[in-house]
Amino acid sequence: MFEPILNRLKAAKKIVFVTGAGMSQESGIPTFRGRDGLWRNYDPMKIATIDAFYENPKLVWEWYEDRRKNIIAAQPNLGHRAIAELERCKEVVVLTQNIDGLHQRAGSTKVLELHGSIIRIKCTVCSFQDHIVSSFDKLPPLCKCGKILRPDVVWFGEPLPQDVWGEAISYANSCDIMIIAGTSLLVSPANTLPLYAKQNIAALVEINPEDTVMSVDMDLTIRGTSSNIIPKLTEMISKLN
Ligand SMILES: NC(=O)c1ccc[n+]([C@@H]2O[C@H](COP(=O)([O-])OP(=O)(O)OC[C@H]3O[C@@H](n4cnc5c(N)ncnc54)[C@H](O)[C@@H]3O)[C@@H](O)[C@H]2O)c1
Ligand SMILES: [Zn+2]
Repeated sequence: MFEPILNRLKAAKKIVFVTGAGMSQESGIPTFRGRDGLWRNYDPMKIATIDAFYENPKLVWEWYEDRRKNIIAAQPNLGHRAIAELERCKEVVVLTQNIDGLHQRAGSTKVLELHGSIIRIKCTVCSFQDHIVSSFDKLPPLCKCGKILRPDVVWFGEPLPQDVWGEAISYANSCDIMIIAGTSLLVSPANTLPLYAKQNIAALVEINPEDTVMSVDMDLTIRGTSSNIIPKLTEMISKLN
């Protein structure tokens, strides 16, 4: 399965993973574009926007509360765990579009959350930020300053946190292998990360049961799910070293 890039995997010092919603699909967390992506007949692509939030903050908050409960009850899958295990033999960095924290719960120590986290909140006006520890009495929850609190996530059309994004680019720019798992690569600017890796002549590997818009640019595409393929990759690399 990995034969075409075996030598490069062996020589690689730094491996960067770029992950998306498909990475957590086998933990029971729906993707946005998958069959089970709809929520109460709403399209998540239309709810995860700043306009939707100001139009109906209660509805958007109800959606995030449902997702947060599902995420807290979920467990990292074999794919998340295999990425964490790979740290034993390589320098590994995870650049994730996921907001579910499952990479960290699986034990990965270097995870950059490009789109924020569902377990954090921030004020829409002042600089207040916090972790969510329990449910809210009333939705939308209010800040001490009286304004509405929002989930600390990046919505469609919003810029990424610039410090995180700058760091992500520098890891993409300097990796030997980039493994792209469970993302449709349709969301910008996260979908430009493989281009940075390519500039560094890194090998690009895609793990996804379906074709993506960038499959043709990959050095290797593996059609399979992340919990099935990534453990095989980790096992193979640990034998090479
Ligand atoms: N778990 C989460 O935190 C979560 C869940 C849904 C959406 N999101 C957000 O939605 C946006 C959607 O973009 P995206 O590219 O991450 O997701 P996406 O929904 O656009 O695409 C999911 C991709 O994963 C693939 N996939 C499905 N099941 C898979 C599996 N078991 N193993 C490997 N691949 C699988 C699909 O073929 C598809 O290409 C992102 O901004 C992300 O922040 C996050
Ligand atoms: Zn405030």
